[in-house]
Amino acid sequence: MKAIVLAGGFGTRLRPLSCTRPKLLFPVANRPLLDWTLERLAKSGIEEVILTVNYMAEAFVKRYRNFTYGMKITYSKEARPLRTGGPIKRAEKLIGHGGPFLVLNGDILTNMDYAELLKKHKEKKATATIALCRVEDPSRYGIAELTKNNRIRKFMEKPDRRKAPSNLANAGIYVLEPELFDYIPSGRPVSIEHEVFPKLAEEGKLYGHSFNGLWVDIGEPVDYLKANRLVLDTVVKQSQLGKDVIMGRETVIEAPSVVGEGATIGEASKIGSHTAVGDHSVVGKGVRIENSIVFGGTRVSDFASVKGAIVGEGVVIGRRVKIGDCCLVGDHAVIEDNVRFTRGVSVCPFRRVTESVLTPRCLM
Ligand code: GTP
Repeated sequence: MKAIVLAGGFGTRLRPLSCTRPKLLFPVANRPLLDWTLERLAKSGIEEVILTVNYMAEAFVKRYRNFTYGMKITYSKEARPLRTGGPIKRAEKLIGHGGPFLVLNGDILTNMDYAELLKKHKEKKATATIALCRVEDPSRYGIAELTKNNRIRKFMEKPDRRKAPSNLANAGIYVLEPELFDYIPSGRPVSIEHEVFPKLAEEGKLYGHSFNGLWVDIGEPVDYLKANRLVLDTVVKQSQLGKDVIMGRETVIEAPSVVGEGATIGEASKIGSHTAVGDHSVVGKGVRIENSIVFGGTRVSDFASVKGAIVGEGVVIGRRVKIGDCCLVGDHAVIEDNVRFTRGVSVCPFRRVTESVLTPRCLM
C-alpha cells in the first residue's frame, strides 16, 4: 500500500521556529517528527510514501532523498499551497487506481495501528475511513457524529463543549479509495475536511474508526512540548545519553530525557525530566534545563536556566540568562548575559537580545 503525507504547511503557529525549518523536521526527543511517522509507516508494511511538499521542500529532499526506512519516497511539489485536499488530487497519478491508500497529516504524532484502520475500512466497504481520536476538549477539533454502525453522519467543526455530538475528533489520518479523487476539484486549494468529507457523509460513504492510543496534533508550541514529553514518557522512558557525551562532576540527568551525541553538560548542572538537548550542544556549569526542547549545536552558558521553553539550533544563551515557560528562541539567536524572558517571549532567528523582556511578545 502507498501513503501520502501532507508536509507542505507553513507552520505559522510555530513561528519564529518554523521560519528556518519546516515543522515536520522539528526534533521530537532528538529525532525529526517525520522520522517517527515514516518509521511507523514502514513497520505497517507501507512500501511507498508520497511527500506532498511546498514550504521549504528542499529540506525534505535533503533529509530523505528517494529511499528511507526501506520505503520509496516520492515528492509531489506544489507551485502554491493546495491545503489538505488539493495535494491528494495532485498525487492521483502517483497513487494510481489500484486500491486504497493512506493519507496522513504530517504534523501528527501517534502510535496508531494503520493496518487495523485499513482492516476496518475494508470491512465497511467505505470510500473513506477517518481515524477518530478521543479528545478532552471537543471545541478545538472537527468532531464526528456517528451512527451505531460507525458511519459518520456529519462533522461539527469546533463545537461548543455542551453541544458536541461526541468527543471523537478527526485525527488527520485516513484510508481512501481511488474513487475519492473524483470528489476533489483539481488545480486549486481544497480543504478535504470542509469540501470533500461533508459530501461523502451525505452520500453515506464515510466511516470512522476510533482508537485510544497516543495522539498529538502539533499546532502550537504547547502541543510540540506535549509531543516531546509523550515520546520521552512512552518510548525513551529513561535518561538516554548519545555517543560521546561529556559530563562534568555532580551533573544530574533526570529521567525521562535525552542528551544528544557529542553534547557536553558542565559541572553541577541539572537536566530535568522531559527535556531533550540536541546533538553537540554545550551546557555550562550550574545550568538548569527542564521540560524543554533545545535543538542541536546550542550553547547554554553558566548558571542559565531554561524552563518549559523551546530553543532552536545554534543559539547562544549567555551567563545567568533565564528563559521561562512557552518562550521560543529562533535558530542562531544570541541572548546576552543576565537577560530574563518571562512567559511567552519569542525571538526571531539570528536576533541578538541585550535586554530583559518581561511581557509576552515577539522580538523581530
Ligand atoms: P499552521 O500554519 O500553524 O496552521 O500549521 P500548518 O501549516 O501545519 O497547517 P495545518 O496544521 O492546518 O496542516 C495540517 C497538515 O497539512 C500539516 O501536516 C501540514 O504540513 C499540511 N498542509 C497544510 N497546508 C498544506 C498545503 O498547502 N500543502 C501541503 N502539501 N500540505 C499542507
